[in-house]
Parts: sequence; C-alpha cells; structure tokens
Amino acid sequence: MQHLLFSALALSASAHAYGSGSAGWDSAYSRATAALHKLNQTEKVGIVTGVTWTGGPCVGNTYAPSSIDYPSLCLQDSPLGIRFANPVTAFPAGINAGATWDRSLLYARGAAMGAEAKGLGVHVQLGPVAGPLGKNPNGGRNWEGFSVDPYLSGVAMEETIQGMQDSGVQACAKHWLGNEQEHNRDTISSNIGDRAAHELYVWPFMNAVKANVASVMCSYNKVNETWACESDAILNELMKKELGFPGYVVSDWNAQHSTVNSALVGLDMTMPGSDFNSPPGSIFWGSNLAKAVADGSVPQSRLDNMVTRILAAWYLLGQDQGYPEVSFSSWNGGKATVDVTGDHASVVRTVARDSIVLLKNAGDALPLRRPKSLAIIGEDAAVNPDGPNACSDRSCNNGTLAMGWGSGTAQFPYLVAPLDAIQVQAKKDGTKIIQSTTDSTSDAASAAAAAETAVVFINSDAGEGYITVEGNAGDRNNLDPWHNGNELVKSVAAVNKHVIVVVHSVGPVTLETILALPSVKAIVWAGLPGQESGNALVDVLYGTISPSGKLPYTIAKAAGDYGTTWNNAQVDDFTEGLFIDYRHFDQNGITPRYEFGYGLSYTKFDYTGIAVDVHARAGPSTGKVIPGGPADLFNSVGTISTTVRNTGKVAGAEVAQLYIGLPNSAPSTPPKQLRGFQKLRLEPKQSSRAVFELTRRDISYWDVTTQKWVVPTGKFSIYVGSSSRDIRQHGSFTVGGSWGN
Ligand code: NOJ
Repeated sequence: MQHLLFSALALSASAHAYGSGSAGWDSAYSRATAALHKLNQTEKVGIVTGVTWTGGPCVGNTYAPSSIDYPSLCLQDSPLGIRFANPVTAFPAGINAGATWDRSLLYARGAAMGAEAKGLGVHVQLGPVAGPLGKNPNGGRNWEGFSVDPYLSGVAMEETIQGMQDSGVQACAKHWLGNEQEHNRDTISSNIGDRAAHELYVWPFMNAVKANVASVMCSYNKVNETWACESDAILNELMKKELGFPGYVVSDWNAQHSTVNSALVGLDMTMPGSDFNSPPGSIFWGSNLAKAVADGSVPQSRLDNMVTRILAAWYLLGQDQGYPEVSFSSWNGGKATVDVTGDHASVVRTVARDSIVLLKNAGDALPLRRPKSLAIIGEDAAVNPDGPNACSDRSCNNGTLAMGWGSGTAQFPYLVAPLDAIQVQAKKDGTKIIQSTTDSTSDAASAAAAAETAVVFINSDAGEGYITVEGNAGDRNNLDPWHNGNELVKSVAAVNKHVIVVVHSVGPVTLETILALPSVKAIVWAGLPGQESGNALVDVLYGTISPSGKLPYTIAKAAGDYGTTWNNAQVDDFTEGLFIDYRHFDQNGITPRYEFGYGLSYTKFDYTGIAVDVHARAGPSTGKVIPGGPADLFNSVGTISTTVRNTGKVAGAEVAQLYIGLPNSAPSTPPKQLRGFQKLRLEPKQSSRAVFELTRRDISYWDVTTQKWVVPTGKFSIYVGSSSRDIRQHGSFTVGGSWGN
C-alpha cells in the first residue's frame, strides 16, 4: 500500500510537470511514452542502471536496449570541459565564469562546452554546479560553481545550461543538495533549515529546472539525516513536485544506498552501477531492481516513470537525430578521433580576461606602461616543468594554477602561463624580463632588486576530497596563500617599491599581510582562468582592456570573520541560516577587506537617478507549477533602473548591481540581497541605462508555515551600486495589504 502511495506521488509529480511545462517537454514525453511500450523489462532496467566504473568509455554508461534505437548513454565530467579526453578545451572554472557577471559570456562558455561534449559523443555533461554554493569559504569544490550568492549562481546556472543544451548535450545540475564540504562528504548530514534551504541552496536549482535542465545529480551527503539520493523529501517532494522537474535524477557515483527505497523516493538512474559497493560488483539496481519490481516492492509504474524521464530528456535534446558516437575512451589516455576544440580558445580568453578582478591599484600602478625591466616571480608564474597535465586530475599544485583538482577538471591542450604571455609583450615593448620561477625568497629578492617593477604570483588550491594535496584533503586547511606566498611577497617588497601581486586561487585568500606592505601597489585576482591564463592576464595588466570582473564572494580580513567553515564532524547544523558571506558581514557589522561584488576598473563610473516601477500584490505565490516552481514566481513585477556613465578616459565595463532589503514584516532577513545585475560596456563619456527586471521570486521569502513563497507587505529598500557596499542610489517601493502584518 505504501509503495502505491509513493509511486502515485512520483507519477503525479512528473505528470504535473510535463503537463504544464514547455512544449519541448510535452512532445519529448509523448515520444518517450511511445518508446517505453516497445521495451522489455530487462531493457528498462538497463536504461536506468550503470554498467560499472570503467565498464564503458565514459565515467558513466548505461546499457543499450535493442528494441528501440537508443544508445548506451555516455555521462562524462566535468563542469569546465570534457574530462579524460583530448584534445579538448580547458575552460575557465565556474568561479571565473561567475566573476564575469556577464550573461552572454556565461551562455557562450556553456555553448562551447556543450559543442565539445556533443562532438565527442557525450550525451550528458556532468555540470554545471550550484552545490556547493560555497557557504564555507574553504570548501574544496566551491570553484566548480559560480558564486556563493544564490541569485548570481542561479543566473549562471540558467545561462550555462541553456548554452550547453542549445548545443545538444544534456546538462546535469549538481550536487543536490547541501554538499558544502569534502570532509566526511559520504556520511555528514547537512541539517538545513527549511527557509535557508529554499532561499540559498535550492534557489539556483530552480533556475536550472526553469532552464529545462535534463538531469540533476543527487549528492553524497545526508540532508536532515537522510541520504540525498534516498530522500523522499529532497527528490520526490522538493525536486519533482515543488520544482516540477520533468527530467531525471542520477545518483552521484555510489551515492545510492538501497534497491527499493531509492526507487520509491525518486531516484531515476544509478551510477556508476556497482563496483565501489561492498562486496565489489554488488549492485543495487540491475537484476535486483528487476526482482524488486517482480515481487511488488517497487511498482512497475515507478520503473516506467524512471525510463520515461530518461528517454524524454534524450528526445528533448534531439539526441535521437544523428548524434555522434563516443569517440574517445576515458581509460586509455582519452585520445579522441575527432578535434572538437574549434575556436573555443577565444571564449576561454574572453571569459578569463573579463573575470579578472582588480583589487587594489594605488597610484594607477596598472596598467603597465612599457616598463624598462620587469621581475616575474613565483612558481605560479610558469607552467609546471613536467607539463600542465603532469598530475592526474590536476592532483598537485606545481606551476601556475589554472584549475583546481578532482573530477571537475579537464586536460589542458596547452597552458599559456603568465610568464609566456608577458615575455611576448616584453619583446614588443623592449622590456627586460628577470625571472625567478621558484618560491625561493632569496632568489625572488635578487630578481626583484634588479627590476623597475616586480610582479609576484601566488596561489591557493583546492579540490575533491578523494585526493589530498600538500596536506589539504579537498577542503582548504586555511585561507593563506600556499607555498609561503606571504613570505615570497615580503621578500620582494623589501627590495622593490613597485610590486604587483597576482593571485590564482579557488576562492578567497586573506591578504592582510600583503596589504601591510607599502611597496605592494596593485593586487589582481585571476582565479582559475583555464588554458589562456597568461594571454588573458596580459590583456588586463597592459590595459588592452579594463578589468571588469567583480568578486563572486567576500574577501575577509580574517578567516574567522566568515562565521562558517567546514568541520570534521558527522553533522553540520547550518546554524548560520540565511547569513552566509555578505549577508553575514552586513548583519553583524563586520567590515570585509573586499566586499562581495567589488572590483576596480581603469576608468570610473557615475550613477545618476533611479526609477522605480514595481507593483506587486502581497501574499503567497499561487501559480500552477511549471519547471522551476510556481509559474507566477517568475512573472515580472516591474523594473528598477538607473543611468551609468563612464566618466574616465578609457573604455570599460561596469557591473551595475541591485540589492533589495525586505520590509520588517518578513521574518529576520539579511539586510540586503542581490536581486539584479547588468554589465554595461561604455566608451569614455558614454552613458547607458541599467534596467533590472524584478520577478515575484526576487521580492519573496520562503514562508515555512504555509510552505510558500510570500511577498511581504511594507516598504522594500532598494540599493543600486558598484558592489554590495558601494551603493550609489537608494530607493524604495511599498507593497500594501495585510499579509504578514
Ligand atoms: C563524484 C563527483 O562528486 C561528481 O561530481 C562526479 O560527476 C562523479 N564523481 C563522476 O566522476
């Protein structure tokens, strides 16, 4: 009886979703349903079951049925390129894509990655990432995602997924849900309050589902004491019913823990099938699922629903029409029979360049103007002498850092290091380069003493917890630069008065030691830029383009200021609730070093005027569920706009940002939250209007009592500016009525 109830839930969720979803899903579901009827039971089970790790060319593979024309599905990492294959493009990491705050670049990066995936015959590319969101500044995999802010992460998910899927590959939004650290990731319970869950961690997945993402990967951790891939609340109720997700849920690799329960709670595909289970080769689905259906513990309708969802996603993407065969094997060096890289290097360079955040620029130290001599210092300035792919899954931090480590990686086809690109420019300018590409402080000092200006490269790495690098088991042990970077900069600053520091890092690095050195004139954050690292950096260092990246997280003065960190326990109670990153700094009156949304330019921007045209009714969202959530949540409630003018002497791009403070009738809420942004490219003296369109969701909070998104009554505060703390225009609007008062 219980089973029937569960199955009805799962079915009604899917029926609801595809019945009211986009036309694309409707016709994909009709075709999937027709195909389902041709399949026998073994084939159905094969479609939902992986063939074991290394059992096919990809990191995940399913069985191919013979009754319909449907392949062994190839699921392949990663969120920044195609893992275990070559040649492929090594794109900038998600965190850099987020730092561009540029919708069109996010889309272009997604489209280029998707084109490579399709070209190689990959059906499902395992990305993008919105979990971890990054509440712990030292979380090992934060760099795979876009930003610690759910709104920015949500826009980035939506654009990336649209780009990928427009190119024909199925995207997979991961990791659902609450996977915020690497330590104990298989056992820890993320106990997240309902409101924080919705307003922070679920939010970007709503965008993903709204963008018609084909698949979602459930995570290793438990959520509120139940494994994510075994949780009715997280899969059936939240993902499929509340968010109306019409696609399929695939397990992270061995995140499944049962045959029957996982099927009943909404898991649709098991990966990699077996192998890591104990004893090896034991498998939860495959023939065990067939038995469970035969003895009635899993209803036939549930198996049919899994298959229908998987087939529908395949039809939705048009993968039934001449999709390429898989043209590489992950397990024999990955050499592909085709070259899919096209002109994607230009996308890499543009994203890398436009993600660079200029943190400090005293006395206009940058851009460089044909210096007579330049010292280039630090191991991070040059490629690892053993090659950029010397360590599998980038499991070492030798040479310049351009991606983190773990499954979220791809092979570099080449890596242009900062030193390589600076040498090319120096030749044009007649600049003498004095290099010291180790982290030796004495070598650094002698090189720096002999040069007009010194550029010091420091970094900080992190990755997935199955690899430990220099004592960091995935998550970072601290927020300091690696390899004694502070001492390296100090040794240079002691002998040279014009020091520029470049930071390649997975996330925030505390900079207080470096900022205390008066010789340090400029600091540039270049993140994890991918294969065009040096070229992108030179574009900015020499002023071919003004820096236009903005921080996708806060840089604190001290690690303790964040109030959140990974822990080594079996439980994380998420006691910080809604107050992560800038929400926490604002709420507690803590001054950050560089706030969320911050970034300098070589020019200046003025903001004039603010027009507010917002009209909403108070109360709960009532719309029928479409992919993403209740339909009316995504309806426009009006616009806010301002004029931005480039008042400087060079062209530049400004990310105008909109933050909203909810009225007091909403229970305790962060003072302000990002709810809009627009990147404007402006010539000197040029003005343009930044227009932020607000949806109902943008002015709602999650009401735990009614279990609905609610627009509160009262006065909403509007903050428009150049960062979360550099507010240039204030405004407000009022929503009348009695709800919540
Ligand atoms: C585990 C990781 O968490 C996931 O992101 C990845 O896609 C799979 N392994 C497959 O490599």
